[in-house]
Amino acid sequence: MERAKIREIVSKMTLEEKARMCSGSDFWHTEEIERVGIPASMVSDGPHGLRKQDMEGDHLGVNDSIVAVCFPAGCATAASFDTELVGKMGQALGESAQAEDLSVVLGPAVNIKRSPLCGRNFEYYSEDPYLAGKIAAAYINGVQSKNVGTSIKHYLGNNQETRRLTVDAKIDERTLREIYLPAFEEAVKEAKPWTVMASYNKINGEHTSESRKFLTDILRDEWGFDGYVMSDWGAVCNRVEGIRAGLDLEMPSSKGVRDKQIVEAVQKGELDEALVDLAVENILNIVFRYKESKDASAVFDRKAQHEFSGEIAKQCIVLLKNDGILPIAFEEKQAGKVAFIGKYAKTPRFQGGGSSHITCFDVTGAIQAAEDMGFKDKIVYAQGYDDKEDKTDEALLAEAVETAKAADVAVIFAGLPDAFESEAYDRQHMRMPDCQNRLIEEVAKVQPNVIVVLHNGSPVEMPWIDKVKGIVESYLGGENIGLAQMEVLSGRFNPCGKLPETFPLKLADNPSFLNFPGEGNVVEYREGIFVGYRYYDTKEMEVLFPFGHGLSYTEFAYANLKVSKDSLSDTDTLTVSVDVTNSGKVAGSEIVQLYVADPVSDVIRPVKELKGFAKVTLEPGETKTATFTLDKRAFAYYETKINDWYAESGEYEILVGASSRDIRCRAKVKLTASKKLPVFYTIDSTFCDVMKDEHAKSLMGPIIEAGRMEEVNTTQGEGLGSAAEEMNEAMLAFAPIRNCLSFGNGSMDEAKLQAIVDKMNQR
Ligand code: BGC
Repeated sequence: MERAKIREIVSKMTLEEKARMCSGSDFWHTEEIERVGIPASMVSDGPHGLRKQDMEGDHLGVNDSIVAVCFPAGCATAASFDTELVGKMGQALGESAQAEDLSVVLGPAVNIKRSPLCGRNFEYYSEDPYLAGKIAAAYINGVQSKNVGTSIKHYLGNNQETRRLTVDAKIDERTLREIYLPAFEEAVKEAKPWTVMASYNKINGEHTSESRKFLTDILRDEWGFDGYVMSDWGAVCNRVEGIRAGLDLEMPSSKGVRDKQIVEAVQKGELDEALVDLAVENILNIVFRYKESKDASAVFDRKAQHEFSGEIAKQCIVLLKNDGILPIAFEEKQAGKVAFIGKYAKTPRFQGGGSSHITCFDVTGAIQAAEDMGFKDKIVYAQGYDDKEDKTDEALLAEAVETAKAADVAVIFAGLPDAFESEAYDRQHMRMPDCQNRLIEEVAKVQPNVIVVLHNGSPVEMPWIDKVKGIVESYLGGENIGLAQMEVLSGRFNPCGKLPETFPLKLADNPSFLNFPGEGNVVEYREGIFVGYRYYDTKEMEVLFPFGHGLSYTEFAYANLKVSKDSLSDTDTLTVSVDVTNSGKVAGSEIVQLYVADPVSDVIRPVKELKGFAKVTLEPGETKTATFTLDKRAFAYYETKINDWYAESGEYEILVGASSRDIRCRAKVKLTASKKLPVFYTIDSTFCDVMKDEHAKSLMGPIIEAGRMEEVNTTQGEGLGSAAEEMNEAMLAFAPIRNCLSFGNGSMDEAKLQAIVDKMNQR
């Protein structure tokens, strides 16, 4: 419906009706106001499946929801680095939402993985905002192509579960702009989500649900958002402030409490009614967008989606380690010679707890999938552990060790139990259950061929890493994860996922370690922009597995890195291409990663940042060219002096490779900034800063030179060595120009110096 028509409807509504429209009618619906023809609409979680509750609603996945299909969670889909695939998953979600009459799917969840401990990391995509933004945009485009909205969440700075409703995240502006905002920015600009969900927490003292800066200035004015902003469930504190800031819809219903507050504030003249009108207009814009494009023919084909879920999951699996043990030639094995050990072989862990929890149509574990593939007789199973509590069951352990001993190879299905990671609380440590670690150690003592298959939403420590030959990371791969695991283990599918986050050796290595989850209601993001590999790689730290890491059953060779120009201005774009060849014996896909480095900079920057990626699928011997386009933003940092992105003049490096630590080709380009940063001189400006600027140098240079001559004359003949000369140079470079008064032989006075400084500031 056109905006003008919507405005007409709003103009016919009473103040009370408009206030009512600004919050839900219940847990999941927007209000219906029949008198003016406004229909109700339903929203539902999200993100990796539908949690539509027909009966009593709750936001923690406690009560029942309809039977739906659980796709791989965000942690897994990001590991695919495959925007086309995520787009198709979005389409499937959109189609089923249409069939279930849902106007908005509450996702994607794109908060940055600041700490491996965040309880909701399994729903989130990455430690890298570029990757998170691209995957989110693909998801949104997919869902919305079916005329169903999305709600990108949780905007903003909701990077922990501890005290999520009250915590005040202290984040400096550059860090917000470079790390925490860009995933939302990319998604809003590229995919136009119909709605945005404001988070529970505060940022720098202000509730995000009451922040005009985030909800209007940045979201609407800078990025062009045109949908409605809804609160996370229970995130509203001061409703009137929220309306002023741009929070259109409160969820769930306040049952009239806030409606009254809105009405009273308008009547008392404290709240401009036009702002209430605007909120209603924003909500109706989406309600009608959905209603008018309702697809009555949509079907929720659960069986087909279950199969598709397995197809997605296999593209998300990351092969972390392979000492020649994988794939397993099941066909060639004698009966009973492959030991599948661990409860998760039968009943996998494939989703997390809380509002994203799906009532599944079907669940396929690896044993079931192996049977479906005809390998039933090859496999023997031992449960090995229970995941209800972290306690070794000696009988299960002994049985597992015996089973492993008698086999050719032992595949241990391990990972984090439900209680270890969930919405509403954070992990306390990064370890797997002790009973599972012990199982792996004990099995490795009797069986040299051990493969560990992991089920987890975020990194774990691996004390047994050197005792096993293979590690397969399944993340939380959705309800058909067993099929995907079997396809990878058997080599029917060549794994191609890459880590969307660094696996540190230990928790204490993480940059947020000292400041997570904060003190009381305050958490300071003191590591600033140094999140994930931006920190580990800049510090040259040893890690368990670096960002972007993932192995294949084939090899890829990189060659012919080309840049379209060697020098460019910040208004140009640069095309980068690289040839990738499958130099091994089986078909496979490679995720080619492009990083940009600014080795010499006036500001502190990470050693490299991801600015492009491409998935290339190749037959053995085949070569394809991956092409990337870089613009100013790929080179820029956020400059708070100008409140904008700034790419400094200078030489940059383009790094292309298979992970952040496996760079295969490099090229250099020179960039020229079209604008200089504003400078303001005072008598405290240093000589070295002044001498960098031609205009300032022309005014100050002669005085400096005179001073230098003076210095040379007085120090001549004293047998100064080169170290002393260097010291003199440094003293001069870092001295404030007011030192002309102290060391200028009386030739300079304050008024004269200030006059020069004033001229330096006039351009
Ligand atoms: C979660 C949201 C979710 C909402 C509705 C909240 O507790 O933070 O992600 O969409 O509940 O279930």
